[in-house]
Amino acid sequence: MSRFSEPQDPVFARLNTSLSFDRRLWHHDIAQSRAHTRMLAAQAIIGDDDRDALLAALDAVESELVADAFAFEDGDEDIHMAIERRVTEIAGAVGGKLHTARSRNDQVATDVALFTRDSAGHAARAVDALAQALIDAAEAHLDWPLPGYTHLQRAQPVYLSHHLLAYVWMLLRDRERFSFAEAQTAALPLGAGALAGVNFDTDRDAVAAELGFDHVAPNSIDAVSNRDFALDYLSAAATCATHLSRLGAELVLWSSEEFGFVTLPDAWTSGSSIMPQKKNPDAAELLRAKAPRIVAHLSALHGVMHALPLTYNKDLQEDKEHLFDTVDTLDVCLAAATGMIRGARFNGERMSAAASDELIAATDVADHLVKRGVPFRACHGIVAGLVRVAVESGRSLGELTDGELVAASDQLDPIAFRELLTQTSSLESKVSVGGTALARVREQLGAARSALALHAA
Ligand code: ARG
Repeated sequence: MSRFSEPQDPVFARLNTSLSFDRRLWHHDIAQSRAHTRMLAAQAIIGDDDRDALLAALDAVESELVADAFAFEDGDEDIHMAIERRVTEIAGAVGGKLHTARSRNDQVATDVALFTRDSAGHAARAVDALAQALIDAAEAHLDWPLPGYTHLQRAQPVYLSHHLLAYVWMLLRDRERFSFAEAQTAALPLGAGALAGVNFDTDRDAVAAELGFDHVAPNSIDAVSNRDFALDYLSAAATCATHLSRLGAELVLWSSEEFGFVTLPDAWTSGSSIMPQKKNPDAAELLRAKAPRIVAHLSALHGVMHALPLTYNKDLQEDKEHLFDTVDTLDVCLAAATGMIRGARFNGERMSAAASDELIAATDVADHLVKRGVPFRACHGIVAGLVRVAVESGRSLGELTDGELVAASDQLDPIAFRELLTQTSSLESKVSVGGTALARVREQLGAARSALALHAA
């Protein structure tokens, strides 16, 4: 018998089905069904024979899924119903006992929590691998100067190691965000039933222990409605992808003929179908462009959850594709970034030539005057005036005459001034904690290494 007098409209069935995407949850669905079955028998809610028959059927279903031999049917609305149908075909009527004291509402919340937990752990390890690649590259280019930029204008010279380590700190923060997301999946939804709890004396703690949850969700209404952990994962992923987009953007700029700071490995670039000379940084460009897609998934799930009345609503089925696409997109982006950094060849000469631009020592000249008692704002004006004279007369700062220098400020020592225009002087004078002086970068490298080791432990 059915509650319904007519079959589903095929268009409704197409709208309603989630099988095409949620089949990817089958591992988790089988794992939770096994734990649930064992608990039902241990609590004498089903018999031991029932348990054995259900577990044997679950094993058979698992083998079919592993072998890609599971025959999905048109009527299978989602992975949960498909597996239960097949269990019943294999085990006979006892298959109908699998869903005792369980609803698809707590079932799906449990599968998604398990999936999110795995995905957050996986992302954390991939972030570690990229951070390690950047640390290795920083170590290999410890004292290679290049210009640091603001507004994409040459600002002050820095060491390449210092610049690469900036990304490591972003990734270490991403790492913490993924750990947080993982920790948000610690409460077991299963056992909440449809929303109000179940009419059986279940042992939720046993199920939690078997499935690796830290504890049982304390409120059944919250348990079936909660997707915060998915939002937390997406949020961590969105920020991480945004970091990768900045790295990708810099690799695109740096590998251009105009910059020439880096040569990307051939394995991570592609040719043009029409211009034979070209080597395009497609992978880096895609790192740049994938970030907004992940941010959109986060935004979309916020939209799904927004103002959603308690408890389960079919809206919640829309959590999955946002989550799945984010997991896949982030995974390939992190791996690509790691591959590119591992294979990148930096061009020391080009970077050093750009960093030798005397104009970028202007701040240091101003500081030289500050140390001689001139107020910083006045110094700024004096040096700006010198830059203007040099630029307008087509000379470099080093070509200004002693007379011009002293005319700008009687505190300006021409010998010290010319020394300041060399890039090493500028770099090595940045001695503040976190600055670019080599001793500070070495310190920072050590700190980054231990922070990473701490995470990985
Ligand atoms: N496919 C559904 C989902 O992904 C499973 C839960 C269905 N529950 C229900 N009461 N219709 O959310």
